[in-house]
Amino acid sequence: MKLAAALLVLCFLCSLQQRSGAQSCNDAGFSDGMSYEVCNPLSVLNSVLHYTYHASNGTVDIAYRAWQSASGWVAWAINPDGVGMIGANAFLAFHNGSSVMLYTTVFTNTNPAPSDITDGNLTFTVHSRMAEYSSAGGYYTIYASLDLPRNRTSQSTVWQASTSFSGSVPFGHAYTGNNIISTSTMNFLSGQSTSAGGIPRLHRKNVRLYSQNSLREFALFCSNSDADLLLRLPFSPFAFCVLNLFPKTVLHADSHQIHGVVNAISWGILLPIGAIIARYMKVFKSADPAWFYLHVACQCSGYIIGLSGWILGLQLGSDSKGITYHKHRNLGIAIFTLATVQVFALFLRPNKDHKHRLFWNIYHYAIGYGVIVMSIVNIFEGFDILDPEKKWKNAYIAIIATLGAVALALEAVTWPIVIIRRSSDDKAPHAGHGENGYA
Ligand SMILES: *[C@@H]1O[C@H](CO)[C@@H](O)[C@H](O)[C@H]1NC(C)=O
Ligand SMILES: *[C@@H]1O[C@H](CO)[C@@H](O)[C@H](O)[C@H]1NC(C)=O
Ligand SMILES: *[C@@H]1O[C@H](CO)[C@@H](O)[C@H](O)[C@H]1NC(C)=O
Ligand SMILES: *[C@@H]1O[C@H](CO)[C@@H](O)[C@H](O)[C@H]1NC(C)=O
Repeated sequence: MKLAAALLVLCFLCSLQQRSGAQSCNDAGFSDGMSYEVCNPLSVLNSVLHYTYHASNGTVDIAYRAWQSASGWVAWAINPDGVGMIGANAFLAFHNGSSVMLYTTVFTNTNPAPSDITDGNLTFTVHSRMAEYSSAGGYYTIYASLDLPRNRTSQSTVWQASTSFSGSVPFGHAYTGNNIISTSTMNFLSGQSTSAGGIPRLHRKNVRLYSQNSLREFALFCSNSDADLLLRLPFSPFAFCVLNLFPKTVLHADSHQIHGVVNAISWGILLPIGAIIARYMKVFKSADPAWFYLHVACQCSGYIIGLSGWILGLQLGSDSKGITYHKHRNLGIAIFTLATVQVFALFLRPNKDHKHRLFWNIYHYAIGYGVIVMSIVNIFEGFDILDPEKKWKNAYIAIIATLGAVALALEAVTWPIVIIRRSSDDKAPHAGHGENGYA
């Protein structure tokens, strides 16, 4: 209840904020005589989205108006599977000489070549499209009628503006300030838009605004009741929500980065921590049975979060037709299979004193350590594929090195304890002990 109330207040504050700095809807005459039901001033880059959603056939008519000099270009895009530029299905309006051009282009990476900027098909159907420039008003207007991808009323949108060209096609834009926060989740049914809006870093107020916005994104995305989306990607909204807990990252996160971060945290950090807890905490009798619950909590949350990252990975694999990273994919499938076996083996665990318990323990350690080693290897495979900024890889190396150092130190501390206990156990074989199979 409290959370819901807090979210409502935040939404209200944010909508106030948005209404202030944005372009207004007053100047809304359209040359085709159309009128649109909803007008949504966008938070940055002097632009406004007008639209009408037709529930009967799942289409939307949009008019995107952006104030820009005639020598510049503007773009508006829907990103069906991610956030930001990678995967954006864009409408680009620009001048070639005196004629206004409109291209539809899908961006597959953030660093396209000029030859990639062509007029092609989008991943969803566009029924009609047109662009014009008003010299009097100083704005472009992009008109389009399109099928909302997968019939989802909530879509991730992104828009852009620049004056730089290569040859006669739009090419390049600023990667700072408003140009990297021009994304929002647009709900075409309710007319709501939530944007990453207005956050030049380092300002307290803006950091606060950002966290409000990401909370809103979080709430909207997590509560997205779109059955189709949920069926298709049962866990990726969850993965997205996890990522939303890491402000700033999400500003330019796309599905690949989400997949990377979620998997590195779950398979690459939580599981090793859980293993360290099991191996070293249980040596201390006073930590029994706390170590067991901590271990299970770590491995289960790692597995569940990892499952969402894994499903997102499968999705990315099936979306990128033609390119398959066989090693990464096969390792991923092997890791997940073994981890699932491990989870189910929990239910088959023989009693502590059962004569087969030793075999179960050996099996449990072998698969457990195997999964962790393979996960770490696969995370580095992922780094090679995604090739993110060096700092990400370095951060992960630092975390793994720290965990390794902690494990080594604990190894040194716990060995004497185990040896002393073993020898005293030998002298008193009937003293029941809680130390169950420290291998
Ligand atoms: C969708 O429905 C609306 C109104 O019902 C109609 O105006 C529009 O032409 C339809 N679009 C398509 C592509 O059928
Ligand atoms: C979207 O949903 C509408 C009705 O809700 C349906 O008529 C239409 O065919 C659907 N479009 C697609 C592409 O599935
Ligand atoms: C721009 O116009 C020139 C000459 O009319 C033409 O050769 C060129 O292909 C056009 N460029 C684009 C991107 O349409
Ligand atoms: C775009 O789609 C149409 C119809 O589906 C097809 O005929 C055309 O070849 C496609 N164009 C490109 C560039 O793929």
